[in-house]
Amino acid sequence: MTDEPKLLESLDPIQEKALAELEAVQDETGLSAWRTAHLGKNSAVMQVFGQLPQVPKELRPQLGQKANRVKQALEAALAQRAQALQEMALQRSLQGERLDVTLPGRPRGRGRLHPNTLTMREIYRVFGEMGFQVYRTREVETDEYNFELLNIPQHHPARDLWDTFHTTTPGVLLRTHTSPGQIHVMRQYAPQPLRVVLPGMCYRYEQVSTRKDIQFTQVEGLVVDQDVTLADLKGTLNEFYRRLFGRQVRTRFRASYFPFTEPSGEMDVECVLCNGAGCAMCSGTGWLELLGCGMVHPTVLQNGGYDPEKFSGFAFGMGPERTTILRYRIQDIRDLWGNDLRFLEQF
Ligand code: DAH
Repeated sequence: MTDEPKLLESLDPIQEKALAELEAVQDETGLSAWRTAHLGKNSAVMQVFGQLPQVPKELRPQLGQKANRVKQALEAALAQRAQALQEMALQRSLQGERLDVTLPGRPRGRGRLHPNTLTMREIYRVFGEMGFQVYRTREVETDEYNFELLNIPQHHPARDLWDTFHTTTPGVLLRTHTSPGQIHVMRQYAPQPLRVVLPGMCYRYEQVSTRKDIQFTQVEGLVVDQDVTLADLKGTLNEFYRRLFGRQVRTRFRASYFPFTEPSGEMDVECVLCNGAGCAMCSGTGWLELLGCGMVHPTVLQNGGYDPEKFSGFAFGMGPERTTILRYRIQDIRDLWGNDLRFLEQF
């Protein structure tokens, strides 16, 4: 026999005790332990259900209903506590990982073009207007292309004009000028007429100073066609510098020597700083040297695959850094390729 009144009375303390313990539960593990202890098979309420069969029939409904109410109350309390805990966890994580959307963003570094690239693009633009195409060739060259095919044989004293970086592979070097591109482009297109500029980086084993660096760019030009004359050379280059610097610009040609041209010349522009009066920039001469040029040597035409009896051409090689330092009044040419962002960010 069971002690029914005692069973009935035990239910309220069971509920109170369970609810009190639930208050102390702080997390998911605690909740699950609490569920086992107070609603599980061996929990006090469930044991009351287990004893129902032994309770006298007339008392069963009352005890059963009461036990059910307690069980439901505990289940409801559990659900409520679970929700409260979830809410607390959410609040905690919101506090902990607070995102301040009013903070200013991290600035993104803005890329910009190198000042010499700006000059090069300006040069392509003007030559482009004048019907020239841009043609690029390699920076690592062979001795054959850099010298021999340009009419500069081994041991020729003219080689002293170009102090050269040689690689550890015999006959392979860093190009000292863009002129070997002349041979590449001629061999690719002969016997078609040509009107191209060949830009790119060149390297020389030089004593570095404020005016000279071991690397620098050049823009080579080459025109090959029938009946091209020295007048075309002068007219083209004068027109080019008028378009680049303005119509008022004054230029002059001087005779010079290059093995790959005959005759050869150099072109100067009146010093933009002193307007020809003479200053430190132009070493007191009033003129700044711009480029070397000339009529393509017959041997070079032939090496490129053109018949020098039928074809003639002119060529030139200019140093854009000259224009860049004049344009931006740069004091030291080494700043151009020194990779110092404090310098580069100014353009
Ligand atoms: N390659 C020469 C140099 O770097 C410049 C030059 C002179 C290029 C005369 C030419 C030319 O095409 O005709 O010193």
